Amino acid sequence: MRAPSIVVLTGAGISKESGLDTFRDPDGIWARVRIEDVATPEAFARDPARVHEFYNARRRGLLGAQVEPNPAHRALARLEAESPGGVLVITQNIDNLHERAGSRNLLHMHGELLKSRCAHCKAIAACTDDLTVALACPACGAAGGMRPHVVWFGEMPLGLDAIEAALAGCETFIAIGTSGNVYPAAGFVADAAVAGARTIELNLEPSMGHSLFAECRYGPAATIVPAFIDELLKGGR
Ligand code: APR
Repeated sequence: MRAPSIVVLTGAGISKESGLDTFRDPDGIWARVRIEDVATPEAFARDPARVHEFYNARRRGLLGAQVEPNPAHRALARLEAESPGGVLVITQNIDNLHERAGSRNLLHMHGELLKSRCAHCKAIAACTDDLTVALACPACGAAGGMRPHVVWFGEMPLGLDAIEAALAGCETFIAIGTSGNVYPAAGFVADAAVAGARTIELNLEPSMGHSLFAECRYGPAATIVPAFIDELLKGGR
């Protein structure tokens, strides 16, 4: 398959104006909860009910009526629909706002909040209700092994082979709303640059890796992303 000419990496900042919290901003999730209590395999082994409670609350929040894709998500769907060379959106987000906005060529490298996975049979299922320690797997019937289909710290992100191939073949790499703290995603800009791609950061403020980008624009995603995509589609720089 031909590599997409545009690869977009998104992070929590793109969903902030949809009402979902980021992680490392002063009002972010990691200011209230410790990673090692809720987002590692060890935390789940130690206290699965606590981990379920954390993700159940986030799932209920995501499914709340007021959480909708914002103009930044919609601009990326338009980019995909109107770009002849193809677009791949790689998201670190576990929300479903890109697909709800219309993105189709989408890779959830940190998993999806609206899916569960069984530790026994590995089956992945749609999940809109709370998960519990006692819940039985809808596929194999075993109880006690259900977990959110998300990637925790210390686990391998999903789709890395496809991502590596896309980065090696793209002409444009755009990072949106990500702080550049978490690898391997934080290293994608360097891979794209080595492959000769134009690299652009769109973020509220300079990220950890801002100096690795050839171009940077700062402001809220719902404003700066549609403006940048308009320019890109018109062929301007
Ligand atoms: N528009 C654009 N950018 C924004 C906005 C906004 N409205 N609001 C915040 N930001 C920026 C912040 O300035 C920050 O640089 O978004 C970035 C969010 O960074 P993080 O909270 O670190 O989120 P992210 O980069 O997605 O985190 C990566 O870390 O905890 C893990 O698994 C989690 O996928 C997540 C990963």
